[in-house]
Amino acid sequence: MKIVLGVGGGIAAYKSAELARLLMQEGHQVQAVMTAAAQEFLRPMTLAALTGRRVLADLFAIENAIDHIRAAQENELMVVAPATADLLGRMANGLADDFLTTLYLAFTGPVLLAPSMNVNMLAHPAVVANLETLKRRGHRIVEPGVGYLACGMTGPGRMAEPEEIAAAVGREAHRRRDLEGEVVLITAGPTQEPLDPVRYITNRSSGKMGYAMAEEAAARGAAVVLISGPVALRPPFGVELVTVHTAAEMRREVLDRLGPATIVIKAAAVADFHLSRVPPQKMKKTAARLSLELDPTPDILAELGGRKGDRLLIGFAAETENLVEEARRKLRVKNCDMVVGNLVGSAEVGFEADLNEVVLVTSTGETVTVPRAPKREVAERIFDEVLKLRLALHAAQ
Ligand code: CTP
Repeated sequence: MKIVLGVGGGIAAYKSAELARLLMQEGHQVQAVMTAAAQEFLRPMTLAALTGRRVLADLFAIENAIDHIRAAQENELMVVAPATADLLGRMANGLADDFLTTLYLAFTGPVLLAPSMNVNMLAHPAVVANLETLKRRGHRIVEPGVGYLACGMTGPGRMAEPEEIAAAVGREAHRRRDLEGEVVLITAGPTQEPLDPVRYITNRSSGKMGYAMAEEAAARGAAVVLISGPVALRPPFGVELVTVHTAAEMRREVLDRLGPATIVIKAAAVADFHLSRVPPQKMKKTAARLSLELDPTPDILAELGGRKGDRLLIGFAAETENLVEEARRKLRVKNCDMVVGNLVGSAEVGFEADLNEVVLVTSTGETVTVPRAPKREVAERIFDEVLKLRLALHAAQ
């Protein structure tokens, strides 16, 4: 693969030399690009010797006049390591004041970022927001590790090890646009069921898993419709977002948009009960005790299972116990092709958390365990298994 290796000005720049060596060893062609600050930490000569190519750095050198455009067109992947706070900020905001950032704007392929900075810088709202923007753009982040930092502090911020970044490059090199032509309909987040004009019942779903699924599907070439309950997330880049509040609204939007969908993923945590007749005025605190009579909401997944057609139907099962048994039961009664079982109720994985670990049960009788990983990686594994399942189902026909 033809790779641009962008090097920012941070102490971790010394690790970029090792990364360049690993990438060359893997058979990639590497074009190093350094910012001015990076050259204070690492000599361009080192990267030139390791990659066998002139390092690109100065946008204003006569011989480089249109090199940033050429480099953008010729290369298939851009890796930025270390991605410093300054570089992330410039990339997130579309500034182009040097070779690397200009090349970034002209580049249309996948981008992999390996952030590296001090603990407090990484936690700063400005940096958090910039990373969020870059993730939404579909760029992948090789998360920084926790450890001793050159500034003397200990915590997250240390650039991922070169081996880890090289492995992420390897995954990117093998990534196919294998969802091209698919229309993926995804539901995500909780629903809110009103009790009166100012109160509602809801649950702890953050929507993160459904949004990660949407992001992954779009990155792999699918047309994605994301029907989302109220969440605090920004919609992934290139995804059509439809916002809803109640289970009834979600059902209506899902049914309206079902037609072209080839894969339906019901990651939403739909409220099971609601108040059928919502009072028009706020309930007053007149009685000492309040009882609510709730009615079941429509089970959207079960309804879709009843009219499945050719499309693949993937449900989720949020459980606090008997994960596999419950996932299998829901697979059967809701007539799904796959159910993603996840344990909720702990702080580390499931609802609200950034990580997840899931068990996939399929209508072909398979059980696949996906170990604990960031939700985007879990989403990647789920789609791999969905495509495998489709092949198995076709073969069985
Ligand atoms: N689901 C749905 N409509 C509902 C309830 C659930 O479409 N009214 C879907 C969810 O989106 C999920 C799956 O059904 O894909 C399972 O949801 P879950 O809350 O785990 O299970 P329930 O069927 O509600 O069963 P229980 O609450 O008893 O575990």
